Amino acid sequence: MRFYAVSGSAARQRTDCAIVGLYESGTLSGAALQLDAALGGRIGRLVKRRDVRGKLGECTLLDVERGRCARVLLVGLGKKDGFGRKQYKKALLAAAAAVGKTGATDAVSFVSAEPVATTDTYYRGRLAAESVGSALYRVPAIRSTRAPAAPALKSFGIAVAEKDQLREAERGLAHGRGIAAGAALTRDLANLPANVCTPSYLARQARELARQYPGVRAEVLDEPELKRLKMGSFLSVTAGTDEPARLIVLRHAGGKQGEAPVVLVGKGVTFDSGGISLKQPPGMDEMKFDMTGAASVFGAIKAAAEIGLKRNLIGVIPACENMPSGRATKPGDIVKSMSGQTIEVINTDAEGRLILCDALTYSRRFKPAAVVDIATLTGACVIALGAHTSAVMSNDDDLAAAIADAGRRAEDRAWHMPMAEEYHDQLKSNFADFANACGRDGGAITAACFLAKFTDGLRWAHLDIAGTAYLTGSQKGSTGRPVPLLVDFLLNLP
Ligand code: BES
Ligand code: MN
Ligand code: ZN
Repeated sequence: MRFYAVSGSAARQRTDCAIVGLYESGTLSGAALQLDAALGGRIGRLVKRRDVRGKLGECTLLDVERGRCARVLLVGLGKKDGFGRKQYKKALLAAAAAVGKTGATDAVSFVSAEPVATTDTYYRGRLAAESVGSALYRVPAIRSTRAPAAPALKSFGIAVAEKDQLREAERGLAHGRGIAAGAALTRDLANLPANVCTPSYLARQARELARQYPGVRAEVLDEPELKRLKMGSFLSVTAGTDEPARLIVLRHAGGKQGEAPVVLVGKGVTFDSGGISLKQPPGMDEMKFDMTGAASVFGAIKAAAEIGLKRNLIGVIPACENMPSGRATKPGDIVKSMSGQTIEVINTDAEGRLILCDALTYSRRFKPAAVVDIATLTGACVIALGAHTSAVMSNDDDLAAAIADAGRRAEDRAWHMPMAEEYHDQLKSNFADFANACGRDGGAITAACFLAKFTDGLRWAHLDIAGTAYLTGSQKGSTGRPVPLLVDFLLNLP
């Protein structure tokens, strides 16, 4: 997709599809008024007859015989005084999906020239490109029938109100394009079934990413190396499966040599059956998404490479399956982590923290400026925040605030949840340094407390994306979250 910015009257813009807005009050956006005049009042008549109402995201396609554009897509913007960045993104997602169903090869969003409360030109460009990428994303289907035709859309423009905003809009579009490419990779990997997307498959994809981008390097550690590193906790999770585990290290060297890197640690459980603490059948297929933390690290690195992010970034991905078998770890087993701390495995289904803790210890060798882990870690997080908001927990309030701010700006939200000594008490064990699981109360927080035991002296934050990583039901599939949040965080590091 080619993205570009334009200024000037909608009536003079040549495009296959002009996207213009209508507010719920019946007020036409500036560009809609210009086109209405050029089209002999056709849009105004639709509004007067109440054929279109301006409900947020409602799309109406008009074909046009005169004027410079071939089509007009009227998109509802909702209430005028409530039109903020969330509404802007929703409108663009809906418009891009509607344009993607037509034969239009080019479209221009004049909605982007509307005043959007709490959003500047850069973010209008960025959110537009992200929305187009997201709306046109197609699951790589594994079907015997012919795949649905790819959208015809090849280029997408956004209009700005003033000429001097063109550069900022273009900068936003370029970043949005990179984020969309990263999020699409995340979705591709996460949507794959677990019999395809194994730890070794992820390792191959890491090498592929390094082949595609000269600034990216990949390194893959196999089980003998993990044993040498004494990653007893990570290895205890993979004990039950025949599929070999991998530790994948991805690097994007965009910063100065010697500049402390940001390390992203992604949970890469390519299938979580629960192990001996086996899960119930309903929804178990969704545990193929249990590697979305890892996939979001791939996506963030890809976006960083596409954007040319001027930071040193390292991705650390522990990848394995969690399966029951005669060799599987059993409840009550005690394992020794790379840090030397011992863990009583009360529940083999609390496996994410067992692989992340060794990856966190491993990340110390990079002397990181900050470490952020990303994981579909707890069902409790889904209970607490639902499908709309990720949880962020940290040993550094400023870092947590920076991540929550990034989520707000990127429209990919995360909420700061508390951690305190009291919660740690729940992980006490009579036999080892601590347990990997406890009662259900505050489950997302106690999981974070477990990880915190491995982050002494690190500036660390944990993102629980169990609710936001994928949709269920008829919309089942990866969302590409939290790639927009992560990239926004990285772009805005002090
Ligand atoms: N991968 C799951 C968490 C999960 C649940 C992600 C639902 C997405 C949707 C994780 O490994 C898990 O099983 N966690 C347990 C922890 C418990 C045993 C302490 C949970 O949340 O039930
Ligand atoms: Mn589990
Ligand atoms: Zn899991």
